[in-house]
Amino acid sequence: MKFHIAVLPGDGVGPDVTNEAIRVLETVGRRFGHQFNFGFGLVGGISIDKNGEALTQETLEMCRGSDAVLLGAVGGPRWDDPMAKVRPEDGLLALRKGLGLFANLRPVKMYPVLENSTTLKPEVIRGVDMMVIRELTGGLYFGKPKKSWTIRRGRRAVDTMYYTEEELERIMRVGFELALSRRKKLTSVDKANVLESSRLWRQIASEIAGDYPEVKLDHMLVDACAMRLLQNPRYFDVIVTENTFGDILTDEASMLAGSMGMLPSASLAGIPEGSGITFGLYEPVHGSAPDIAGSNVANPIATILSIAMMLRYSFNLIKEADSIERAVLKILDDGYRTKDIMSAGMKETGTTEMGQLVADAIRD
Ligand code: IPM
Ligand code: MG
Repeated sequence: MKFHIAVLPGDGVGPDVTNEAIRVLETVGRRFGHQFNFGFGLVGGISIDKNGEALTQETLEMCRGSDAVLLGAVGGPRWDDPMAKVRPEDGLLALRKGLGLFANLRPVKMYPVLENSTTLKPEVIRGVDMMVIRELTGGLYFGKPKKSWTIRRGRRAVDTMYYTEEELERIMRVGFELALSRRKKLTSVDKANVLESSRLWRQIASEIAGDYPEVKLDHMLVDACAMRLLQNPRYFDVIVTENTFGDILTDEASMLAGSMGMLPSASLAGIPEGSGITFGLYEPVHGSAPDIAGSNVANPIATILSIAMMLRYSFNLIKEADSIERAVLKILDDGYRTKDIMSAGMKETGTTEMGQLVADAIRD
């Protein structure tokens, strides 16, 4: 089969890690007989420098014309001025909205071999395997009004948490579908004791549950969820939550996996059902880490695992996706570690070496 992938390396370590992901994808292509073509575009700070905006219409169109998008990372201190008119992050938000990527999937899986590279107790995080689904094109990030202004008595600013029934229904379906393919437990996370939008969120979750009798649904308040994630993270199978809540909870949950450098993500424009294919953007959860950019130390595993998600959700290439995940496990088992996950007695490897090791370990 033949696929066209838009690659937006972005800023900082973005180019370092996307290069390794491409290396792995090309290896998968050779071993399994598929053709992957790549088209490159700019996003984030590098696009601001070159074009004056964080995402051009041209780049957006290139993404629309592809089968899937691979993104590195955006941002860096050079573009951090809070008064700046354009920010690298605007590029990412415009991509999400412009491509209709409403469902952000962030799997959090504890790798036993990394038990000792976390700040948390091994007995608490052992066996953690959850999928957090963050609604990505609505809620507090995008609701209107959204503005700041000044009156005689001082400055004012407002953001709005707004959802329509349609938006809530589709994100709930993503939650239930993924729960069906896993341990059949869905936790819907909201703040229904305070927020109107959360009361609608909870109602719709309960209504959609009627279509999925095999899935056990529970509701949890977001503050309680933040606590439970650290107290008993194995409680969770699939979590579905609002945009901002999901942003915060996934940074917290990332620590349950040992390192942020291990976590992939998918942002989908449809509901992943059965063997259907869904357009999506794939990126590591970590940021641009400008301090280590270009120095061959970034961990490419999160981006490589994001490629596995691309094969699974956008191309329906399941055994190919499995082969990448197995290769990563094997290389970790063999003791190879990038700096962020290094521990005593292990073999420290650079970004490109790690990419090459994983590629070499890919088997049919
Ligand atoms: C994320 C990031 C982004 C977000 C930023 C870079 C705009 O924190 O993907 O979690 O807030 O969504
Ligand atoms: Mg975030």
